[in-house]
Amino acid sequence: MELSYCAVFLILLIPISRADATSVEKQFKECLLTQLDGNSEHIEKITFTSSSTLYPQVWDSLAQNPRWVNISSRKPLMILTPFHESEIQAAILCSKELKLQLRVRSGGHDYEGLSYLSDVPFVMVDLINIRSIEINLADETAWVQAGASIGELYYKISKASKVHGFPAGTCPSVGIGGHISGGGQGLMLRKHGLAADNVVDAYLIDANGKIHDRKSMGEDVFWAIRGGDASSFGVILAWKIKLVRVPPIVTGFNVPRTPEEGVTDLIHRWQYIAHDLHEDLVIRVIAQISGHDKSKKFRATFNSIFLGGVDRLIPLMNESFPELGLQAKDCTEMSWIQSVMFIAGYNIEDPLELLLNRTTMFKRSFKAKSDFFKEPVPKSGLEGAWKLLLEEEIAFLIMEPYGGRMNEISESEIPFPHRKGNLYNLQYLVNWEVNSDEASRRHLQWAKMVYKYMTPYVSKSPRAAYFNYKDLDLGKNKLDSTSYSEASVWGKKYFKGNFRRLAQIKTKFDPLNFFRNEQSIPLLNSHHS
Ligand SMILES: Cc1cc2nc3c(=O)[nH]c(=O)nc-3n(C[C@H](O)[C@H](O)[C@H](O)COP(=O)(O)OP(=O)(O)OC[C@H]3O[C@@H](n4cnc5c(N)ncnc54)[C@H](O)[C@@H]3O)c2cc1C
Ligand SMILES: *[C@@H]1O[C@H](CO)[C@@H](O)[C@H](O)[C@H]1NC(C)=O
Ligand SMILES: *[C@@H]1O[C@H](CO)[C@@H](O)[C@H](O)[C@H]1NC(C)=O
Ligand SMILES: *[C@@H]1O[C@H](CO)[C@@H](O)[C@H](O)[C@H]1NC(C)=O
Repeated sequence: MELSYCAVFLILLIPISRADATSVEKQFKECLLTQLDGNSEHIEKITFTSSSTLYPQVWDSLAQNPRWVNISSRKPLMILTPFHESEIQAAILCSKELKLQLRVRSGGHDYEGLSYLSDVPFVMVDLINIRSIEINLADETAWVQAGASIGELYYKISKASKVHGFPAGTCPSVGIGGHISGGGQGLMLRKHGLAADNVVDAYLIDANGKIHDRKSMGEDVFWAIRGGDASSFGVILAWKIKLVRVPPIVTGFNVPRTPEEGVTDLIHRWQYIAHDLHEDLVIRVIAQISGHDKSKKFRATFNSIFLGGVDRLIPLMNESFPELGLQAKDCTEMSWIQSVMFIAGYNIEDPLELLLNRTTMFKRSFKAKSDFFKEPVPKSGLEGAWKLLLEEEIAFLIMEPYGGRMNEISESEIPFPHRKGNLYNLQYLVNWEVNSDEASRRHLQWAKMVYKYMTPYVSKSPRAAYFNYKDLDLGKNKLDSTSYSEASVWGKKYFKGNFRRLAQIKTKFDPLNFFRNEQSIPLLNSHHS
């Protein structure tokens, strides 16, 4: 598509004044009008400028981390909520024309808000209306449009079949667009790997507005977008995924333990066995703090889904983790879709339609960081971490075991490199209810402190991190120039040896670095303005 119709070129200076913003908004709409062959009524319906009445509501609807709700200077100039792919193509071409950045939002769970915030003027494309899901049981696949949530996907699968599922994350409101772009781990990863390991095709729109499938984008780009940050390469329209078989009955348990019940010994032991259990069994540990002041308490929950019935689970647990003392009465048999509800924190008898809710249950300001562990942490190290937890009000350490299928996939199969040799992934998560600069500072500081404290125990050279738990403390691109070597500092943490290949593919596929953000894949040897 050519953009020669769009009459006006404009170099934007930052920050832009209100008057300029209005004129850019006007030009953007005019450009859309030209691109889309002139249905201005429809364009008005899908475009929200910062002065539209509905703008705050549309922006906020999927901004899942409210930390930045009051920072208007970083919000988009315009929001577009396309219904059709041609409208996304037009948004790309018009943003390019007007030298605006473009950010795309699917579920809005980005940990640093990069899908809905930027330090430079930008257009946000919100895919809330691009979310159809087509299940094909004959070949056990599904086409899922990027704006669908994983809860919508799980729900649709369960309506089509009782013996199929998909191995993705645990929080139903997460968007499939961003989730697969960064990997996607959930309670079936020990059996089936990540969501991104189960993708067989995709539709991607490039910086020229061209729509590609796997064949036309080529195997390099198809490799890159599965876990290597699709947002650095284009806009994903849809993923084609491979469904997996699940048994008609699975078993869930939630076993809480306190310090009086020897929780540290249990978690210490868990580190030796959780990655080595039968691959039908995933036991994660959620260590947390609850209560205020003197009533503050530390506890941990062993939270699990077993892909089978309780009759098979109990002997397995007795054999591999007898210390936990799991009994049949601690367990509940349920369907796979009920296990999705169970893990998401709903009651399994609740209506499955709750999975369709697009707002996270945990919509509170938060900061998170992540680590991978190749060696168990000694008891004294764990106890030190619990002490640090006690300094916070709402904080969690979420430990997700690897092993099983994760060991069989090579580090370079897709960009997500954290495979064999990793015992578990740990997420440090702190939440706060009352937002203020002071509160933010205090909680961000806490996250840095606990991260620093863990240094002796975690993976090294690089100290690895999970890209879907995005953390700008690890480093970020400069606004107008991105050097590969500077970006390697954080890039190698997320992608290890795959980072260079990602940059090579990026350089070839998006040579002008149109698709960029604070932690996008940089061009090789480059500078960009
Ligand atoms: C409450 C909560 C629970 C979570 N649980 C899990 C979990 O269980 N397992 C796990 O692995 N992760 C989990 N995550 C992390 C989650 O996987 C990532 O934040 C993921 O990137 C979110 O995708 P999204 O579409 O919702 O987010 P968005 O904010 O919309 O997007 C995230 C990033 O992907 C880009 N992007 C979005 N859509 C597209 C697209 N169509 N094309 C190209 N780029 C796109 C965005 O621009 C942004 O850079 C959780 C996050 C939260 C907040
Ligand atoms: C657990 O294992 C022990 C020793 O192997 C055995 O004696 C016991 O019967 C087992 N219990 C269950 C519930 O399987
Ligand atoms: C969706 O979930 C949010 C967060 O838990 C809740 O506030 C809201 O009421 C729910 N919406 C519906 C329609 O149930
Ligand atoms: C935003 O600002 C308003 C008004 O000052 C305040 O009441 C609200 O708590 C703030 N919200 C957040 C999430 O900071």
